[in-house]
Amino acid sequence: MEKKYSFIDTHSHIDMIEKITLEEVITNADQNNVTKIILPCAYPKDIDKISQIAASYPNIYAYLGVHPSEAKDWDDSLAEKIENEISFNKKIVGIGEIGLDYYWDKSFNAVQKEVFIKQIQLANKLNLPINIHDREAHKDCFDILTEYNKNSTVIMHCFSGSIEFAKECINAGFYIAIGGVVTFKNAVKMKEVAKGIPLERLLLETDAPYLTPVPYRGEENQPAYVKFVAEEIANLRKITVEEIALATSENAERIFNFQI
Ligand code: NI
Repeated sequence: MEKKYSFIDTHSHIDMIEKITLEEVITNADQNNVTKIILPCAYPKDIDKISQIAASYPNIYAYLGVHPSEAKDWDDSLAEKIENEISFNKKIVGIGEIGLDYYWDKSFNAVQKEVFIKQIQLANKLNLPINIHDREAHKDCFDILTEYNKNSTVIMHCFSGSIEFAKECINAGFYIAIGGVVTFKNAVKMKEVAKGIPLERLLLETDAPYLTPVPYRGEENQPAYVKFVAEEIANLRKITVEEIALATSENAERIFNFQI
């Protein structure tokens, strides 16, 4: 019999996949040994929808939060709304995606920081992990996390820094989530990170529908493709895909403590 191992896609916008239905996304994931998918929230208007999707499908979990690019839409009643949602939906396993994005728009960095800090504090209050979006904001993200985060496990989603920054994050106790970019031929920095960090701090993700790994680069991404990420990391580390699957799934189980 074929050896059975499973993957957990720790960051996947399955609600944004357009070319196939949610049912097809889930079937494909299932057939490719993806046993759990965590759906992040980006927009305040999506909080109910994201929570609802997680509640409706057995293998779907979610983070609730507001993406840095949407920080201007934050208002403090959202913290209450998120807290309320979490109080009755056991499928919400973290706060995310939150952080800083200086790539798209630098004009409201101060607002981004303020909203980031508020959401870190919310996660701390609820004792939930935080899924971090850091785009061209490594230093500020790191400084805010080390200053304000008290008790939440930190996951650097779609890690895009150098191996030196990865090591700083590891030393601070953070986890590093790697996605499809690692399969790109020119992603030299990313390959170095995938090779150089301890397995017990590594998580897999797709960030679907974006950042589709080779050999489907350019097409729409989906959780089923997380295996290509795992295969590339396994090759780089000269270990088996099973070992990557086992270690990353164990890490995710430990961090998110899935209740149902
Ligand atoms: Ni995302």
